[in-house]
Amino acid sequence: MDVFHIEGPVQLNGSVRINGSKNASLPTMAAAILAAGKSTLKSVPNLSDISVFGELLSSLGCTIERNDSGDLSIDSSVIENTVGEYEIVSRMRAGICILGPLLARCGKVSVSMPGGCAIGDRPVDIHIRGLRQLGAKIHLENGYIVAEAPHGLKGDDIFLGGPFGSTVLGTANVLMAATLAKGKTTIESAACEPEISDLANCLNKMGAKISGIGSPRLIIEGVKQLHPVEFEVGPDRIEAGTFMAAAAVTSGELKLENCRLEEMMAVVDKLRSIGVTVEAANGGCVVTRNGLVKPSDFTTQPYPGFPTDLQAQFMVLLSLAKGNSVVTEKIFPDRFMHVAELNRMAANLRKEGPVVIIAGVKKLIAAPVMASDLRASAALVLAGLAAKGTTVIQRVYHIDRGYEKIEKRLNAVGAKIIRKSG
Ligand code: EPU
Repeated sequence: MDVFHIEGPVQLNGSVRINGSKNASLPTMAAAILAAGKSTLKSVPNLSDISVFGELLSSLGCTIERNDSGDLSIDSSVIENTVGEYEIVSRMRAGICILGPLLARCGKVSVSMPGGCAIGDRPVDIHIRGLRQLGAKIHLENGYIVAEAPHGLKGDDIFLGGPFGSTVLGTANVLMAATLAKGKTTIESAACEPEISDLANCLNKMGAKISGIGSPRLIIEGVKQLHPVEFEVGPDRIEAGTFMAAAAVTSGELKLENCRLEEMMAVVDKLRSIGVTVEAANGGCVVTRNGLVKPSDFTTQPYPGFPTDLQAQFMVLLSLAKGNSVVTEKIFPDRFMHVAELNRMAANLRKEGPVVIIAGVKKLIAAPVMASDLRASAALVLAGLAAKGTTVIQRVYHIDRGYEKIEKRLNAVGAKIIRKSG
């Protein structure tokens, strides 16, 4: 297992290109199942989560290829298996989003029930409820969700809200299934995340009839069949937010290319309110920090609120603010594995239920720490950039799931990170 040795403190300066979005790529790859033939996706990042998802699609009978320019093609002409095996789905929760498209195309599917993970319980009851409303018969068997709709799916009015708001992959599943259902489906309380808009735009390019894209009410007129597509996924707003936090944590200046500020207003607003400058520049932005960061509060929320996927990274930034801050996690109330690790680096964080109280410190101090999940490990990397000494991060495979060549890209703008095979 690889380990990062991060020498700090450093100041980051320079330019970084933001990759295509992981969380838009995964459901869009699943959408290729809906239309027999070869679809091509552009700007899909080269990440371990994407490879595992490719493995899952291959296990169903699809052929996956990456060409020299990095485009990912998925040939779904033949689906010879409708079982998403535990061995693969247990490695990546997004595997659940083959449920809707396989059901719609093949009339049956079994997918291993994903377990919990480092960020807490991750139920799929709303996915199941939504697909049942489209007429699927669903039961659990040996840890698998078994769904059948031998006579096809039928559109309905479906409320997809849950105790923590909308569900991103639940919306993806029901949306994909509804494209081939008979008649009209209305999804109320749909997730509004840009990744869902990307998926819906891709589906429309495949011949689906979806309106209300980007809003909490999606209306889908079912069609008889979809056709393969060529589609480019949008930039990764979570990767962009992580680099923004990196510029701010290191008192540096980063120019981010390929970044849509209009999809990041909650994040940009938070940065500006604590004293970090964010200026739009040619399809991207420049993020600069001069002087001290002011303390602040934020609460994670579904889009367009502050994203849970940036909570850990912004906690590092607020750890260095002059004064006390409060972070409330409203999407995954247990997503705080980074708190104890950051305290090992001399942060002063106190967790009380879904809330963390941050007493700002003057500096962080390097320590050996353990990555626990993707975004928590990104936070540890940011802390390592700012901390004095050599921070050693174990289990960096977590970060490889969601950030392509992170150490090379950070080193190119002034970081000193060495990857060692452990
Ligand atoms: N929920 C339910 N029942 C369900 C589904 C969700 O109660 O059937 C709850 C969840 O427990 C959570 C809330 O609803 O409290 C929102 O979860 P959601 O379903 O939206 O999460 P997800 O679709 O499984 C995606 C991203 C996550 C991101 C969340 C929230 C992908 C592949 N994953 O997960 O990304 O944190 O939305 O924005 O798109 C990451 O990239 O690091 C990551 C974890």
